[in-house]
Amino acid sequence: MAIRNVVQIGDEVLRKKSKPVKEFDEKLWELLDDMRETMIKNDGCGLAAVQVGVLRQAIVLDVNHMKLEIINPQIIDSFGEQIEKEGCLSLKGQWGWVKRPQEVTVKAQDRYGNEFVITGVDLLARALCHEIDHLSGILYSDIEIKDYKEKKKK
Ligand code: CO
Repeated sequence: MAIRNVVQIGDEVLRKKSKPVKEFDEKLWELLDDMRETMIKNDGCGLAAVQVGVLRQAIVLDVNHMKLEIINPQIIDSFGEQIEKEGCLSLKGQWGWVKRPQEVTVKAQDRYGNEFVITGVDLLARALCHEIDHLSGILYSDIEIKDYKEKKKK
C-alpha cells in the first residue's frame, strides 16, 4: 500500500469523466487500498479515484464507521433535500454549503465485481452524491450555494 498524491482544483484531470471499471483484479485492489490509505492520511471521509489521477469509477468512503468501496455506481433513486457544509480533499481548507438529496439509493459493485444496492441518508447520502459527482468531473464548488449563510441570517 502507498499514499498517493491528491490532485488539487485547477488540475484538468478533475474535470474529466471516469470510465467504468471492467477488471476486478489486483490492480484495482491496490488502487482501492492506496485510496483508503490516502484518504485516512488526509483526514477525509471519501475519495474518488480521479482525485489520485486515475479515471476509473471507483470510490472509497468512511462514513458512520462504515468502510465502503463503491465501483461503477449509479444513483437509482433519491428523495428529499438537505443543505449542509461540504469539503473536499481536492479543495484543501475550503468548504461550502451544498444542496443534496436527503436520501439516495445507489447500485454499484464491490471490489470483486459483485453487485449491491445501498441506501444512504443524511451524511451518507451527501457523501455518495459528492463522490459520484467526481466521476463526472463535478466538484462541490460548482454547485455550492455561495450566499446561503447570508440568507439564513435574514
Ligand atoms: Co471531493
